[in-house]
Amino acid sequence: MKLLVKNCTLDKVKTDCIIVGLFDSYKFSISAEYLNDCSDGYITSLLKLGDIKGKLGEMMLLYNVPKIFSKRVLLVGLGEKNKLTKSSLEEIFKNIIRKLKKISVKNIICSFSEININSENNIYWLIRSITIFIHKFLYKITKINSTTKNSMCFNLIIFNILNKNELLVAQTALKHALAINSGITSAKDINNLPPNICNPLFLSYQAKQLSLRYPDNISVEVIDLEAMKKLGMYAYTAVGSGSKNKPFMSVIKYSGNNTSNKKIALVGKGLTFDSGGISIKPASNMHEMKYDMSGAAAVYGTMIMVAELKLPLTIIGVLAGCENMLGGNAFRPGDVLTTMSGQTVEVLNTDAEGRLVLCDTLTYLERFSPNIVVDIATLTGACVTALGDSVSGFFTNNEYLFDEFNRASKETNDKIWRLPLFPEYQKTLSSSIADFSNIGDSKAGAITAACFLSNFAKKYDWAHLDIAGTAWKSGKNKGSTGRPVELLCQFLLNQIR
Ligand code: BES
Ligand code: MN
Ligand code: ZN
Repeated sequence: MKLLVKNCTLDKVKTDCIIVGLFDSYKFSISAEYLNDCSDGYITSLLKLGDIKGKLGEMMLLYNVPKIFSKRVLLVGLGEKNKLTKSSLEEIFKNIIRKLKKISVKNIICSFSEININSENNIYWLIRSITIFIHKFLYKITKINSTTKNSMCFNLIIFNILNKNELLVAQTALKHALAINSGITSAKDINNLPPNICNPLFLSYQAKQLSLRYPDNISVEVIDLEAMKKLGMYAYTAVGSGSKNKPFMSVIKYSGNNTSNKKIALVGKGLTFDSGGISIKPASNMHEMKYDMSGAAAVYGTMIMVAELKLPLTIIGVLAGCENMLGGNAFRPGDVLTTMSGQTVEVLNTDAEGRLVLCDTLTYLERFSPNIVVDIATLTGACVTALGDSVSGFFTNNEYLFDEFNRASKETNDKIWRLPLFPEYQKTLSSSIADFSNIGDSKAGAITAACFLSNFAKKYDWAHLDIAGTAWKSGKNKGSTGRPVELLCQFLLNQIR
C-alpha cells in the first residue's frame, strides 16, 4: 500500500473513490463543494432526498457522479463544523475503512486537507493522524501456520492537499506517520507472538536484527545469564531461574547524526510469559500473560521509528527479556536477593517480578550516564483497577518529564495520568530482614510498585509508565494495541531542538 500527498484536480483525477466531507446541516466542505460545482449541482440534488445531513458517522456512496472521472465519491458526515476532534476523526476513519474494505476499491483519494481538527499545525496532525488511523484499522494479526495470507486491501491512498503551500508540511507528516506506523506495527507483531515462539532469546535475536537493518546507527549488545551474574544482577536472574528459557537483556544503542549531548534511555519490561512463579496466577486468562512483554515491544517499535527517521538523538533502548516460571530452580517467597545496586530485597510474592527485573536494568543503565530514563512496563493489575484500560499510569519526580509527557500525550491522544510517589507509600515497602520487600501492603499497588523502582533510579531523571491496562485488548479479539509507541515517538520528536 502506497500513500502520497499531492495537489490534484479532483474532478479530473481517475481513482476508485474520492472521499470528501460534509458538515452538519448540509454544509459542504470545500472539496465537496468543488465536486458539486463540477457536477452541476448533482450532490445538492441528492442531498434534497434527506438521506444524509452531515452528522458524524453518516456516509453516502455515490456512483457515476456526472463530469467526475473517478468511479465513486464517498460523502462522509463530519458533524458540526469546527467541532471535529482527533477522536471523532478516528471514528470516521474506522467507518470509512469498514465500508471501503467490503467493495473492490483499490485506489483512493482523500480530500480532507481543509478540515480543521482544532490543533496548531493543523495539516501536520490531520495527515499524520489519518495515516496512523488507516494503518491501525487495517492491521491484522498474522496467524501461525495459517494458509490465509495477509494482504493489504488498498493499493494507493492519495491525500489531496488543497493549499500548495502546505504540501511540504503534509509530506513531513506522512513521513513521520509511516515511521511511527512501522514502529506500532512491529511492536504489535512481536507482542502478539505466542510465548513458546517469542521467548527471551527470540527477543534478543529481534534486537540483533536491528543492527543489521540499520548498521549506520544501531549497535546491539546482548547481556546473557552469565554476564548478568558477573554484573551482580541477582534480582533479574532470580526471576528467570525457574525457566528453561534463560533471561536475555538486549541493549539497543542508537546514535543519529548531529546529536546533542542529551542521552535518553528507554527500558521495556520483557516478560515473554509471567505465570506468577511459585506465587502462581489463577488459570483463567493466564495465557494473556504473554503480553507481559508489551513494554519491551513498545521500546523495540520506538527504536525502529527512530532509526527510520534517523532522528538526531542518542537513545538506548533496553528489552529486559525474561520468563517467570515455576520449577525446582525457581526463586521463592521468602528469598532475599541482592540487587546490582547492592540494595537487598525480600521476596514476598514471586508474581511481583517485573520490578525485580527492572530494578537491575535501571542500575545497569547507570554505566551509560543517561540524562533521562523512561521505563515502560505492564507492571501492576492495580493500575488497571485505578485507571482502566484506556489510560496508562504515569510516574515521575521530575517536572520537566511530566510536562513533556503530558504534551506528547495530548498531541497523540495516547492518554496518561500521573499518580503520586509520596514518601508515605515508600514505607509500605519496608522489610524486617532486607532493605525493601518486593510488595507493599494491599493498597495502591501501582504506586507502591513505582515507588519500589524509584529506589533504583536516583542517578538520572526518571519516569515510569504502567501500561498494564493499555497495552493490549483481552477477550475474543485479543491483541496488542501498540501502545504507547506513538506517545514515546512523540516524546522523542519533541526532544529535538
Ligand atoms: N504482569 C503483572 C501485572 C499485570 C496484571 C499486567 C494484570 C496486566 C494485567 C505483574 O507481574 C503482576 O503480576 N503484578 C502483581 C503484583 C502483586 C503481586 C503485588 C499484580 O498486579 O497482581
Ligand atoms: Mn507478575
Ligand atoms: Zn508481570
